[in-house]
Amino acid sequence: MKVLIVGGGGREHALAWAAAKSPRVEKLYCAPGNAGISSVAECVPIGPMEFDRLVAFAKEKKIDLTIVGMDDPLVGGIVDVFEAEGLRVFGPRKNAAILEGSKAFSKDLMQKYGIPTAEYTTVTSPEEAYAFLRTASYPTVLKADGLALGKGVLICENEEQARAGVREIMEDRKFGDSGNRMVIEQFMTGREISVLSFVDGKTIRPMASAMDHKRAKDGDEGLNTGGMGNFSPSPFYTEEVDAFCRKYIYQPTVDAMAAEGRPFTGVIFFGLMLTPDGPKVLEYNARFGDPEAQVVLPRMKNDLIDVVEACVDGRLDEVELEFGDDACLCVVLASDGYPLSYEKGFPITGLETFEGKDDEFVFHAGTAFNEKGEIVTSGGRVLAVTAVADTLQEARAKAYAATERVHFANKYMRHDIGHAIDEV
Ligand code: GLY
Repeated sequence: MKVLIVGGGGREHALAWAAAKSPRVEKLYCAPGNAGISSVAECVPIGPMEFDRLVAFAKEKKIDLTIVGMDDPLVGGIVDVFEAEGLRVFGPRKNAAILEGSKAFSKDLMQKYGIPTAEYTTVTSPEEAYAFLRTASYPTVLKADGLALGKGVLICENEEQARAGVREIMEDRKFGDSGNRMVIEQFMTGREISVLSFVDGKTIRPMASAMDHKRAKDGDEGLNTGGMGNFSPSPFYTEEVDAFCRKYIYQPTVDAMAAEGRPFTGVIFFGLMLTPDGPKVLEYNARFGDPEAQVVLPRMKNDLIDVVEACVDGRLDEVELEFGDDACLCVVLASDGYPLSYEKGFPITGLETFEGKDDEFVFHAGTAFNEKGEIVTSGGRVLAVTAVADTLQEARAKAYAATERVHFANKYMRHDIGHAIDEV
């Protein structure tokens, strides 16, 4: 079959890599893709929000299945557009992608259906926000309602910081319309865990757990980023936690969306906090995580295409997911200065040292070819150097050793990805 993947980051490279392993895939395309993705798929220069061009391409090439990796096109309704044209596509429709597209929607859903999460209020004007903040308890969390490249969440230690946050989100409109509304949420303490799950509208199959490192600097300091490294599984995601989440969070979320007339098909990413009062939902995303996909997919034994098709066809109940007893860890190599400003266009060397390996991968996030045909840096997050091993400790040692084989000017990484492994 012919498969198209929409997106061009590290997550889409991991998806393309997994799809290319399927014996059922005879031709793989990725729009727009990147330099690394071009080693497993034909990249086509169409942007993820160019729905009409993507539809035309899918029709021209007789694409059998399109997999949408990114949040923006999903929240923008790409699945509805493809379905209206009779094209098979994997991802939530617009009315279900709102689970990620609106923080206020997701909080109201959780409150209505008794899904554990932090106390919150939604405000629609700066005045309302300032009034609420006068009597709030601190720290408190401000969340821009809409998509904000993972940067619309501010943890504020006191009222002064929170007022500055309101100015940034609602008055200066740093995240545009995403700041029309804002959720103000009680701060939760505990360990954060990411659980991605396949969903077909009624059945949910959680994948292996993972743990992100969102801050830019060692010691979980610095600005929030899309994710500087990840590992799977999380040693803190015990059988007890899993059982609780399945009963009180995962299935109830799927049932709630169906009950609201918004059946969810695709991937729900549960951002969880293991609080002293039990697991609670920190956030939902309507897609694979990045770089969660880079550490979860290498551990999955199922054929990705089989699982995706079962979701699209509404027969996920027939599928059991299988994950290895192994562990996987990735370290993001970024451009120094990320997530603020950084230079790009620097040639990358050492990528060939990963060729032919089945336990060390380099997933490309921000790479491109220059006019000389060299692979160069083209984004903030550049590569995810990923290793699979028997244990998390070994995967970490292997991944960090592998980062030494890759060179580019301005290379920046955290040196403590997986530090929580030592705290078990
Ligand atoms: N790594 C977090 C995310 O994909 O949103």
